[in-house]
Formats: sequence, structure tokens, C-alpha cells
Amino acid sequence: MQQKSNHAPVMVAEMLKFFEGRSLKVFFEGTVGAGGHAQAILESHPEIERYIACDRDPEALELAESRLEPWKDKVEFVRGNFADLDTVLQKKGIKEVNGFFLT
Ligand SMILES: C[S@@+](CC[C@H](N)C(=O)[O-])C[C@H]1O[C@@H](n2cnc3c(N)ncnc32)[C@H](O)[C@@H]1O
Repeated sequence: MQQKSNHAPVMVAEMLKFFEGRSLKVFFEGTVGAGGHAQAILESHPEIERYIACDRDPEALELAESRLEPWKDKVEFVRGNFADLDTVLQKKGIKEVNGFFLT
């Protein structure tokens, strides 16, 4: 894991534009990395109730956990492969998500 907690995520403006005006109650990010995209989404969408933050790298999850501390009541960290999305959501009792992001 080479990235630092201040790692700058790419295409944040484009991502925010895509989700603009959408009500995001439950969100799944499959590659949370250092948490930069997550921070931007959580800041822009205070309506989010559950933010499922997945990454296969435990060091990335540690960075993200630190960065996303202000939203600790909403963010649920999962160490795993985003390809196992169905299983992850099923275990959490989540039937649908309103937003989904990988990058
Ligand atoms: C470019 S970084 C993600 C940047 C992140 N969205 C941010 O805001 O900092 C890519 C991340 O994807 C994770 N990753 C790559 N393939 C994955 C997979 N199949 N399942 C889960 N995480 C994966 C890597 O561990 C890495 O942390």
C-alpha cells in the first residue's frame, strides 16, 4: 500500500456531479482506499445512513478509518473483494443500495 492518508483521489468533481440530486441512503464503495472519495461523498450527501466501505487491503482500511472518523456512525468497513458484493450486503441485511462506486 503506497498511498498516504492525504492521497488525492481522482475525478472527484465528476463523481460528485454524477450523484448530484440523488438521495443516497445506502452507498457501497468497493475500493475505499485512503477514503478520499468517501469523504467527498459523505460531505456532499448528509442523507447517507450507511456507507459500506470495502477494500481488500488492510492498510488502506486503516487510512480510511482515520480519515472518515467524523462519519464513524455511518461508515461500515469491510475487508474483502468487491466482487463479493452480494455476500457482503446479504450478511448486512442490505437488499439494495442507492449508490455504488469503484475506482
Ligand atoms: C486508487 S485506490 C482507491 C482510491 C480511493 N477510492 C480513494 O478515495 O482514495 C485503489 C484501491 O482499490 C483496492 N482494490 C483493488 N482491487 C480491489 C478488489 N478487487 N476488491 C477490493 N479492493 C480492491 C486497492 O487495495 C486500493 O486501496
